[in-house]
Amino acid sequence: MLKVENLTKQFKSGDYTVDAVDKISFYLPTGVFAAILGKSGSGKSTLLSLLGALDKPTEGNIQVNLQEISKMKDSQLIKYRRDKIGFIFQSYNLIPNLTALENVCLPMEFAGVKKIARMKRAVELLDQVGITLDKQDRIPSRLSGGEQQRVAIARALANKPALILADEPTGNLDSKTAKIIIDLLKNLAKSKKTTIIAVTHDKEVAKQAKIVLELKDGKLVK
Ligand SMILES: Nc1ncnc2c1ncn2[C@@H]1O[C@H](COP(=O)(O)OP(=O)(O)O)[C@@H](O)[C@H]1O
Ligand SMILES: [Mg+2]
Repeated sequence: MLKVENLTKQFKSGDYTVDAVDKISFYLPTGVFAAILGKSGSGKSTLLSLLGALDKPTEGNIQVNLQEISKMKDSQLIKYRRDKIGFIFQSYNLIPNLTALENVCLPMEFAGVKKIARMKRAVELLDQVGITLDKQDRIPSRLSGGEQQRVAIARALANKPALILADEPTGNLDSKTAKIIIDLLKNLAKSKKTTIIAVTHDKEVAKQAKIVLELKDGKLVK
């Protein structure tokens, strides 16, 4: 679950202040696929980086599975990002010289999971997102865009995150593949008991979401 209260992020330059995220509050239960909609400059990326603890709020609280992020020290935040958050990007961001399997193993290696255990889990996850064994040993450039995003999704799931943050996850995909990837994310939110939030411009993606958060000038409008 994710509980956000009065979340605010101000950027100051000189005597000018931008409220990039302005007193936002919302609650998302576990198992939900949610979308964040909004025009360019409305605060979507800022909100995502606060939720992923990549940036610190000026004010407000973020609670993930009853853990209060805003109170964590930097060392705790590093662990939080590694163990509790999965990130998915528009451009997949896979390591180009590692195979699909190795890419999925990497976050588990950072988290200290033993080699045999992480290989086993990576094979299972890749299988669950539809990357068959014959493709698991390929490097990203030998996979299609949709397949690369599947690998990135498996990687995001590797450490059993409480929260998955996706920034325009279908932005580089054709509409048919996008629909398949969104269906996959929806189903995984439920089956993996995680919460998935996707920033999107795509109204079709938003239609699939159980909860839609619409931002305007840093405020929640819906
Ligand atoms: N590091 C920063 N310094 C100053 N202003 C910023 C910074 N990041 C974002 N902003 C401002 O905050 C607002 C929201 O930006 P952003 O979260 O990137 O919006 P979106 O992702 O919806 O396009 C914009 O007005 C932007 O110019
Ligand atoms: Mg943005």
